[in-house]
This record gives sequence, C-alpha cells and structure tokens, in this order.
Amino acid sequence: MIRLGVLVSGNGTNLQAIIDAIEAKKLDAGVNVVISNNPNAYAIQRAKNHNIPVEVILNSTSSAREDYDSIIIETLKRYSVDLVVLAGFMRLLSSKFIRAFPMRIMNIHPALLPAFPGLNVQKKAIDYGVKFSGATVHFVDDGVDTGPIIIQAVVPVYDDDTEETLAERILKEEHRIYPYAIQLFAEGRLEIKGRRVIVKDSKKLEPPYLENPVVSSNKHLLK
Ligand code: GRF
Repeated sequence: MIRLGVLVSGNGTNLQAIIDAIEAKKLDAGVNVVISNNPNAYAIQRAKNHNIPVEVILNSTSSAREDYDSIIIETLKRYSVDLVVLAGFMRLLSSKFIRAFPMRIMNIHPALLPAFPGLNVQKKAIDYGVKFSGATVHFVDDGVDTGPIIIQAVVPVYDDDTEETLAERILKEEHRIYPYAIQLFAEGRLEIKGRRVIVKDSKKLEPPYLENPVVSSNKHLLK
C-alpha cells in the first residue's frame, strides 16, 4: 500500500474520488495527509470526514516560493509520503519541490494536454472551437502542465456548452482516471522513458473510435 500526500486548495472532488476508490478497495493506497494552502477549502472538511490528518499551510507563511515549498516538503516527509497528488492545488511548485519528489508528483488537468495548459481551460477550449476536450493525468516537471502524460480521457465539446457544463463533464472523467492512474503507480506499472510514460499491460481500444458531431447516425451523410 502506498502512502499519499494530497495537496488541495478548493472543493476537493478529486480528493473525494481518491478516498472513495480506496474505501471501495479499487485503489491500494492510503491518504496519509491532506495539505491545503486555503483555510476555507471544502476539501479540508472532506478529509476530516474520513479522519485524515490535515495541515493548513497558508500562502502567507512565507513570501519566497522555495521557503514555502520547504515547509510542504518537510510536512510530506514527516508523513513518509510515497506519492504527492496535486488535486486542484492552485500554486506553482518550485524546482526544489520537484527535485525532492522526482517523478513522484502527479497532477490532473482539465484539458487534453499539450492543448490548453494553465488556467480557465474549459473556456479556452470552447472559445477555440475544439470538438473534444478532456482530462489529463501527468507527472509534474519544471514547466506548467508539461510533464510526462500518464492517462487521458476524452469528452465531447457541444455547441451549447458553457464553461460550467463542460467543466462538469470533464470532472466526471477526472474522478474516474485519477484514482486509476494512482493505482497504476502503486502497481509499479508506469515506466518513464524520456517524455513517454509506458503503461505496462494496458488494454487497447477497438475501432470505431470517436467523432463529434456523430457521423454514423447522420443518415444523409451516409447515403
Ligand atoms: C479540477 O478540474 C482539476 O483538474 C484542476 O482543478 C480542479 C479541482 O477540482 N486542477 P476539485 O478541487 O478536485 O473538485
């Protein structure tokens, strides 16, 4: 069983999905600590509901990024964390942090990277006019949302989508793939080769694949 340290800033639905997967015995891990930089994050309540230790480390604790990160690193080490899980943690990490946990920090991003890194990406996907977006779990490196990709899930973007409806569709996929990615790590099935993450013994998809809008039921196009 691997030991997780989950970093949060907000609602914590991904944290909840991880806790639920553990309780359902689909994920062979324990959440040993939840760290929040926001004292009002609902994620804190979710952790407490499951008797998980919570450490609130305010942004104001230190103005220098490296000093702040040193406190987080020390906290994660105190709980002997094997894998650091970023779950809506709204802070960039310093290289010092990345070096302390090389290829042992995962993040989830609500777009199909490398498209739309950064913030407000559901709006960016709608404004760009893509027909698909999705969620990406990746290891964290020094860049913003640039680390090696572990798993992606695809969702359609519809003409009448708002930021909120698209975010909700993506979030459901996040809750499915994040616990699974962590389980792959726990099973030792993730092999990093340069930028690529090879997932040992993974299944392949069968065609037909996806299109949006749907072609196959569009009868006049098939004539
Ligand atoms: C998710 O959309 C995640 O991809 C992004 O921040 C959001 C966090 O949601 N990094 P929650 O706090 O897990 O509900």
